[in-house]
Amino acid sequence: MESLSRTLPASWFCSSALYQLERRAVFLKAWHLLGPVTRFQNRNTPVLYEIAQSHMTPSGLLFATLSMDTLPFEEYFAGLENLTNRVDFTKLPHRRSISYEGRFNWKTMIDGFQECLHCQYTHPTFSKYYPPKFYSVTNHLNFSQHIADPCKPDDGLFLYFFPICTLNVYGGGMSSFRTLPSPIPGVSRMEFDYYHAGTDEEFEEYFKFVRQVALEDFELCEKAQENLQRGVYGEGILNPKKENGVAFYQQRVRKAVRELFEKENVPQSFLASIL
Ligand SMILES: [Fe+2]
Repeated sequence: MESLSRTLPASWFCSSALYQLERRAVFLKAWHLLGPVTRFQNRNTPVLYEIAQSHMTPSGLLFATLSMDTLPFEEYFAGLENLTNRVDFTKLPHRRSISYEGRFNWKTMIDGFQECLHCQYTHPTFSKYYPPKFYSVTNHLNFSQHIADPCKPDDGLFLYFFPICTLNVYGGGMSSFRTLPSPIPGVSRMEFDYYHAGTDEEFEEYFKFVRQVALEDFELCEKAQENLQRGVYGEGILNPKKENGVAFYQQRVRKAVRELFEKENVPQSFLASIL
């Protein structure tokens, strides 16, 4: 059992002191997906982001980072452009954006995104489209590719960008969400952007489908967070095949937080006290 990955303990999902560490260890030095360039077409409509450096992929995706100390884009997301270059994102117009708060830690949402064990039970409509028995996740240095059917690697593009952004091209359109952390560890803000090249009617049909999946996840995350905060769930062992995406990103968080701790020479007793 030694070689199996364990989950982060529940305290990591409920600690505001840990969030302060994550701000510096995880969010500051990452590349965040802002969206395809089509998000920024109307000069009169401000789209607010803080950008210290930015990068645009050949296929039209725009990324930003908040620190000059972040690894160069090509190193941070090595191999990513081979995947994103399959889609011309400049051909997908921005159709709608929505944003709302959820009562869960940002990692609770990413936990759910990074595995599909819950899909069959939680997402009956999605599971009809992509039967979860084939589902697999391939992890790279700072991103994961989800493959719904390994026999059809070109059907749909599902990507997770460490730490908080996702990109989902399927069902004729594309959605992207960011799970924004907050100083209250049990609260996050969800920001969704929707892109589609079809008619209004086609877009609305697509929108209804993807919103259904998002609402199902939202409910699951709020319930999971309740259990984390009440002490119902502590920590456990991750399934090495079906939860390798969760293991990957949680290990990245754990490593980044511990490295910051060592760099700042903070006594181990402090780490023990907040976790
Ligand atoms: Fe889900």
